[in-house]
Amino acid sequence: MITTAITTSFSTPREAPNESSERIELLDLKAAHRALREPLENAWRRVRDSASFIDGDELRRFEGDFARYCGVRHGVGVGNGLDALRLILEGYGIGPGDEVIVPAHTFIATWLSVTAVGATPVPVDVDARTMNIDPDRVERSITRRTRAIIAVHLYGQPAPMDGLRTLADHYGLFLFEDAAQAHGARWRGRRVGGLGDAAAFSFYPGKNLGALGDGGMVVSNDAELAESIRKLRNYGAGEKYLHDCIGGNSRLDELQAAFLNEKLRVLDGWNGRRRVCAAIYDEALRDIPGLLLPVVGPGALPVWHQYVIRVERRDALADWLEQNGIGHGIHYPVPPHRSPAYRDHYRGFELPVSEALAASVLSLPMGPHLGIEQQQRVIDAVLGYIAHV
Ligand SMILES: Cc1ncc(COP(=O)(O)O)c(C=O)c1O
Repeated sequence: MITTAITTSFSTPREAPNESSERIELLDLKAAHRALREPLENAWRRVRDSASFIDGDELRRFEGDFARYCGVRHGVGVGNGLDALRLILEGYGIGPGDEVIVPAHTFIATWLSVTAVGATPVPVDVDARTMNIDPDRVERSITRRTRAIIAVHLYGQPAPMDGLRTLADHYGLFLFEDAAQAHGARWRGRRVGGLGDAAAFSFYPGKNLGALGDGGMVVSNDAELAESIRKLRNYGAGEKYLHDCIGGNSRLDELQAAFLNEKLRVLDGWNGRRRVCAAIYDEALRDIPGLLLPVVGPGALPVWHQYVIRVERRDALADWLEQNGIGHGIHYPVPPHRSPAYRDHYRGFELPVSEALAASVLSLPMGPHLGIEQQQRVIDAVLGYIAHV
């Protein structure tokens, strides 16, 4: 049990952080971009020389390649992951009066997409072990207003799609994937993105497939949806200056598409390295009292966007890591229904698993460029913390 404060041990010279060792980041993006310096610079030159910055060949190539990668027919690049989710909902006409089931434990953008179209997010608690939505709890939340379920593949682990598909089919609901954290993850052998009616990806820089700025994509086998999102992302226009509907502006620009074309080539290799890191953590940190490791559900092959442990007195471990020059993340400290943005609306909602997770989750450094010695330092620091409490 982790019960005692550990702060006093920092003051002893033996436990002082090692000033000489370099800080280990939660994700080493600089190393990632060092490894790809030449292809990224070539991508920039290609776009500069083409003088085509919006809706050109780089985008078309990336939309086609990424859709194929996901095993679906259509990809529509948009400005970011939140817009990808929002445009899926808008494209299917989900709006005021409708309810959309969302996991209670997720990044708030999942919920915001529902609110953005005027519909109501209906939170469902998650499985304490996998931290993904629990299909057994979904059915109780379905009403006659429910139109869709958004499955989030949180931390890179596919949500349990079988149970969700069965429910969606039974009640006539759409099943969407929020795959913002799970590029390349597989569920029963199939890549995420092709497991529901449509899927949203984010290419935020820290994602497994990240741009050098914002970016997102909708992928789907539904040609009509793809067509309507192509318009919605571009002022409602199918052809220039011919506006068929009320649209907005949410596009994936050529420069980001060009960077993503280069980074897509290394995605599987980099995901493989993340898997090795996860296996090393699993091995080194298992069976430690007071520490819960991430659990992979049946059929899921995660891509380890984050390696999230659960620990009592999480904030003390976070301080300890910080003082030892080790970055970490808290994904996420406040569940959406308790955040000021939503709490008035969700007063009285009991979502105990998600609330407990918000108080105990901590993401350890993870990424394709986390070196074995660096990872050993992280492991030693975590074990050192446990030994002191
Ligand atoms: C689960 C989840 N959904 C949606 C988003 C939104 O993506 P973006 O930041 O590109 O809008 C993110 C990432 O930030 C995310 O992690």
